[in-house]
Amino acid sequence: MMIQRKGIILAGGNGTRLRPITNTIPKCLLPVYDKPMIYYSLSAMLLCEIKDLLIITRPEDKNSFKRLLGDGYQWGIKVKYAVQPKPRGIADALIIGEKFLGQSSCVLMLGDNLFYGNGLERKLQKLSRSEKNSVLAYEVKDPERFGICEINSSGLVVSLKEKPSKPKSNLAVTGLYFYDKNVSSVAKKLKPSKRGELEITDLNMRYMENNKLYAEVLGKGFSWFDAGTIESLL
Ligand code: TTP
Repeated sequence: MMIQRKGIILAGGNGTRLRPITNTIPKCLLPVYDKPMIYYSLSAMLLCEIKDLLIITRPEDKNSFKRLLGDGYQWGIKVKYAVQPKPRGIADALIIGEKFLGQSSCVLMLGDNLFYGNGLERKLQKLSRSEKNSVLAYEVKDPERFGICEINSSGLVVSLKEKPSKPKSNLAVTGLYFYDKNVSSVAKKLKPSKRGELEITDLNMRYMENNKLYAEVLGKGFSWFDAGTIESLL
């Protein structure tokens, strides 16, 4: 059966690693070549065939994003806006978005993530249409810095660890996630971590424990960037 997901782009956060640039400009509005960063997650959402999109920003940035993206009419979608008063974690987006999502399944994407590669359209369309809960995984050289997953031959995630000292694989979990309609209630049951955030890895762990989390590996032909540092932004 084909399903229609709703989309959420999380574009808040303080961007402390990009200071002083982010003192006056929100990270996801910084230029990446010829477009504001958030255009890349917006286009990923279009490849996922999203028709209803929620953009979550800091309260002080909401109007700038609105000025840029409007109501989505120009792309044939509906764009709505919500604010996150404090950066309480990535999983917090699914609580903020609870009413917006209603009974829909969803795609969540971080506004500072960029995917590029031949066949991305087919891959995202397939994941979005499938009923599975999925993350996109990407092979990295420094697994100690990421959330790392281990998968079996059917793509089911069998282990997941945030910044592991003894990584079981090189597969980093990227900032694009596909969840079922229960995700807001799962997120609401999470406890804040030591750094005071609702961690997306903890949320993924809940799905994994129920054998309900799959990872789609982005192979050699693809690039993934998390533009959170000056080097990766460059
Ligand atoms: P991060 O890069 O982890 O956080 P950040 O943007 O605040 O940057 P820094 O660590 O340099 O201070 O977040 C990834 C993306 O998710 C980024 O686009 C910001 C967004 N985000 C939120 O909108 N709210 C949150 O509570 C968190 C943790 C992240």
